[in-house]
Amino acid sequence: MVQRVRKAVLPVAGLGTRFLPATKVTAKEMLPVIDKPVVQYAIEEALAAGIEEFIFISADGKEAIAEHFSPHPALEKALAEKNKDAELKLVQGATLPPGAMHIVKQPAPLGLGHAVWCGWKLVGNEPFAVILPDDMVLSKTPCLKQLIDAHAKVGGHVVAVEDVARDQTNRYGILDVLSDDGTLAKAKGLVEKPKPENAPSTLAIIGRYVLDPAVFIELDKKTQGAGGEIQLTDALNKTIGSVPFHGLRFEGKRYDCGTRVGFVEANVAFGLALPDMADRLRPLLQKLLDAK
Ligand code: G1P
Repeated sequence: MVQRVRKAVLPVAGLGTRFLPATKVTAKEMLPVIDKPVVQYAIEEALAAGIEEFIFISADGKEAIAEHFSPHPALEKALAEKNKDAELKLVQGATLPPGAMHIVKQPAPLGLGHAVWCGWKLVGNEPFAVILPDDMVLSKTPCLKQLIDAHAKVGGHVVAVEDVARDQTNRYGILDVLSDDGTLAKAKGLVEKPKPENAPSTLAIIGRYVLDPAVFIELDKKTQGAGGEIQLTDALNKTIGSVPFHGLRFEGKRYDCGTRVGFVEANVAFGLALPDMADRLRPLLQKLLDAK
């Protein structure tokens, strides 16, 4: 029987240099898409997928993330006194229950693999999720739930994948595909950020993973890979053979909030997905396009 996925690791230690000066004192994960911080979408997606414990791999200066998911008694009292029930619900809805949130400080920016390794003690020996909040997914079924459902059937590592243009392979972990039924692609290998001419396929990993804890044994070797960083992709690659690895072509659309253009695109897409905004937003966008 495949063990249930209860815990998620969220690497949030990055400096967010692409968004300076906005990220001078504000964590990039706290930048809002419409009216919600980017990281809250990740947490809501994980809660909807049955995740109960959240392990943030954080850094100095990013304390606002943990604050955001903690109770705020003064604000709650003020809203309650003014009978602002809807607003109170929004504040309380962004609070995780006691014990559901753990913060681990990553001592130095040594790579995504190192960030995930920092969660080892808190994850222990059970399958776990990794969520990169920069990747936002609009879908009918939460992307992580799709992965967990697939994991319940095939076990091992199951990651979200999508086909990218060949000239983009150097931005992603890329699968070397063994077999592919159109939804699940079984990999015989993985390469981190290959040049287009060397990429074994154009099937790219996006920021949602369900992983077997065996990956920690490889991460613990602290081997440096692409860019001199400890890469999650490399550690996963080394476990192939002993742990099955599948890429799931998930239902939905991913938005890369790690870039400025992607961030604007996400704001528009998530705005258009909100019934109370779409009708007013659509003509405004059209007007802007027509004016050019
Ligand atoms: C990381 C991973 C990469 C993955 C990507 C998804 O890269 O190293 O394998 O494809 O996330 O967003 P980063 O975007 O941190 O450079």
